[in-house]
Amino acid sequence: NSIHFFPQVLSMELPPRPTLFDFHGVSMIKYFTDNWENIQSFKARPDDILIATYPKAGTTWVSYILDLLYFGEADCRSSIPLQERVPFLEISVPSRPKGKDLADQLPTVPRLIKTHLPVQFVPKSFWEQRSRIIYVARNAKDSAVSYFHFGRMNRVLPEPGDWSCFLQNFMQGKMVFGSWYEHVNTWWDQKQTYSNLHYMFYEDLIEDSGQEIRRLCSFLGLSPTAEQRELVQAKVTFDNMKQNKITNFSTIPMMNQSVSPFMRKGRVGDWKNHFTVSQNEQFEEDYKNKMRNAALVFRNEI
Ligand code: PPS
Repeated sequence: NSIHFFPQVLSMELPPRPTLFDFHGVSMIKYFTDNWENIQSFKARPDDILIATYPKAGTTWVSYILDLLYFGEADCRSSIPLQERVPFLEISVPSRPKGKDLADQLPTVPRLIKTHLPVQFVPKSFWEQRSRIIYVARNAKDSAVSYFHFGRMNRVLPEPGDWSCFLQNFMQGKMVFGSWYEHVNTWWDQKQTYSNLHYMFYEDLIEDSGQEIRRLCSFLGLSPTAEQRELVQAKVTFDNMKQNKITNFSTIPMMNQSVSPFMRKGRVGDWKNHFTVSQNEQFEEDYKNKMRNAALVFRNEI
């Protein structure tokens, strides 16, 4: 009988994939715009910390670092998955709690909140309250590859199509949360006028996570002992986070980890296994035209 009912259960849990539409000039899907008025009127507090990224830049990694720095692994929290400890502000998926409501109900101080919103869509209370914001950026090529595999395994996202088609769409900004180029540049510009913004890079975390954790502590005004910092550093390695059911998203039914695991490769330069020579040439040419700020430099390899 359970086999008989299985397809129905599956189809209940897995609605058809959403389609992209233009939302105030940014490609979006309904799962991130359905709760829009409530999201926009979110009441941020001065001690809230917003972790903002273009998708696949290392959001989960930085979220877990902050969670451990602030709260450690107290027994009462040990079974709460990261996506509940650090709610995803704009998510609104049927039969799941809305990210905005989870954020409202967070009992912690500070509240750690995740978003992928382009800077112009961030609820204005974050700026008014001068909440601290951490922006994580990752090089475009690895971001595209990671996003492609994420689209394959995650039914919340539109069908990614094949790699070459996905890459063209990436270059044209036809992605959920819009153009990578716009996202990283406008957030970078925001840093020039909003001093409570810490802009960091995935590649730096890979190269020297200890240093990036120290920088985060200094931005946040935290002073853990060297031992505490090392403990955090050890817990947030790729292998440990991949094994850890708190951080590996294994509890989310919309994600099919047998298609591609959420903790997939965790490296800089995996794009080399995906881009053909001609895709790379075309990408580089287009990149030069779109990325004109000499101060914002990404590393495609380390
Ligand atoms: S999401 O869905 O946008 O929130 O995804 P996000 O967490 O931003 O990015 C997922 C990618 O980050 C990699 N990751 C890590 N790399 C190295 N070390 C650690 N600890 C780590 N944790 C997550 C994850 O593997 C995804 O990258 P890819 O290239 O797909 O492996």
